[in-house]
Amino acid sequence: MPENILIAIAWPYANSEIHMGNITGSHLPGDIVARYHRLKGDRVLMVSGTDSHGTPVTIAADREGLPVEEVYKNYHNGFLELFQGYGITYDLFTTTHTENHFKVSQAIFLALQRNGYLYTQKSMQWYSPTAGKFLPDRYVEGKCYICGFEGARSDQCDNCGNVLEPEKLINPRSKVDGSTPELRETEHFYMDLSKQEPDVVEFLRQRSNYWRDTVLGESLRKIEAEGLKPRPITRDLDWGIPVPVEGWDGKRLYVWFEAVIGYLSAAVEWAHLSGNTEAWKDWWTDPAAKSFYFIGKDNIFFHTAMWPAELMGAGDQFLRIFAEEDGTLVLPYDVPANQFMNLEGRKISGSRNWAVWGRDALTRYDPDALRYYLTINMPENHDSDWDWAEFVAKNNNELVATWGNLANRVLSFCYKNWEGHVPSIDVSTLRPADLELLAAVEKGFQTVGDELEAVHLRGALQTAMGLAAEVNKYLDTSAPWFAIKADKEAAAKSIYTALKAIDSLKMLLAPFLPFSSQKLHEIFGYAQPLFGEQYTEAVTDALGEHTVLRYRVGQLANLPYRWKPSDLRPGAKLNPPAPLYKKLDESVIEEERARLGK
Ligand code: MF3
Ligand code: ZN
Repeated sequence: MPENILIAIAWPYANSEIHMGNITGSHLPGDIVARYHRLKGDRVLMVSGTDSHGTPVTIAADREGLPVEEVYKNYHNGFLELFQGYGITYDLFTTTHTENHFKVSQAIFLALQRNGYLYTQKSMQWYSPTAGKFLPDRYVEGKCYICGFEGARSDQCDNCGNVLEPEKLINPRSKVDGSTPELRETEHFYMDLSKQEPDVVEFLRQRSNYWRDTVLGESLRKIEAEGLKPRPITRDLDWGIPVPVEGWDGKRLYVWFEAVIGYLSAAVEWAHLSGNTEAWKDWWTDPAAKSFYFIGKDNIFFHTAMWPAELMGAGDQFLRIFAEEDGTLVLPYDVPANQFMNLEGRKISGSRNWAVWGRDALTRYDPDALRYYLTINMPENHDSDWDWAEFVAKNNNELVATWGNLANRVLSFCYKNWEGHVPSIDVSTLRPADLELLAAVEKGFQTVGDELEAVHLRGALQTAMGLAAEVNKYLDTSAPWFAIKADKEAAAKSIYTALKAIDSLKMLLAPFLPFSSQKLHEIFGYAQPLFGEQYTEAVTDALGEHTVLRYRVGQLANLPYRWKPSDLRPGAKLNPPAPLYKKLDESVIEEERARLGK
């Protein structure tokens, strides 16, 4: 039975380009799992978008001296280009700055209000008389009242690491113009998460037997240590989503409160664009649907506590307001958050250019070479490190030597000696060693599939590469290159066996290495592509125009289950083979290291 699988990926802030840490942290693992489920015949919806609101984005606009709208669109367009280059196949990659997202977010807010989870409260906030507005916490700096550090932000001290109470900051000054702000009273909506603590804990416990220890541990530990406390969900800002309550004109919804709602609103937007406005419900109201959230470890709390609390607290009323029906919204099935990827032993820092930028790397390397290293080195259970020497070594010794050369050597030899066709053997005459190899590869569809389903992507790729090594071993023993002189029939059986194994490996590796698997697929002569196509589209709404990235399944819609062993036909016609990957020169290592930190 095909399942409905929602692949939900963290929304990147429109304040910086995407680097390798971001790709391996969320976009790539999400894409691998999405591609696997599509091959399996499941109904996949993969969504995300640009997180266009909040102070990170307004700070970027101040820094660049451009209007916020322009800044968010510039980064957004860069993201779309990057995803196409790496083959990150979003069914919809949109932005939070759309009329649809505003409406869905406001409906969730109103639903929480109706269910009694919101209240208002007055507090003191730094106000800038020179700018005539309240200053977000990040805009106020001063002396830390805990450690005395002079450059503390009002909400956090980077010296002692403490979270600060903004109004206690000593000698505050505005980061905008250096002037001295004053404390003024303001009022905000709060979400009373304390009321939902038992529900959130129960939600986590129900998933405890299969969630990553890092994610479950952090979520439960935090709740045990400090409990779930009420959180303000509005801000004094003029950029963002208006609070849907009369008299609250100057305020906006807190960026984290609304960005997570994007997973739901993007499904709604996708349904509208696809011409079936109800279709989002297959992933959001069907209790059997499974949702996977791909995020970095810094986002865990918002996805394992805040977002489930919003869904549980608003679900029924939201469906009544928005869809005029009864029901509940689907809660996260898995949140396989990744740890961080460092770079050459140091923490990635965009502002210091200690980063490998996604689009830039694509000008020098093939996407599958990058995808390979990012997957084999994915920070699933602990931080990992991008190391240029290791990148070159893994590319040359594993991707090229174990897999690329195997495929190219067998296909070239076959193409030359069997006139561009798969040898026409009688499959009932295959020998025990041939059948053994094929059985081992066939088992891979179960083992690799199980690992992909559990989101153990490093392990899944290692298992598939282990099978490629098995094929190499088989060829060392059966040595068709020599056998062909004495016994062409025996060589034909070996080559047929190896080709069939390679054709299966192409499928096992396709979620990880989609570009080269597709190339190989064409060499094998198949007409139907392995995957659909990505394209962009301009959408106009009441807020203006935004460009979205989409994915077209096309003719694949009629091919339900393709995650299965090759049934390569003896005698089938092949296309001329070509190498799948490039060996990299060692000089790359120093060249790339020289770019860092400049
Ligand atoms: N923009 C946030 C970040 O880059 C992630 C937001 S994820 C969402 O850290 F779920 F809130 F959208
Ligand atoms: Zn401090």
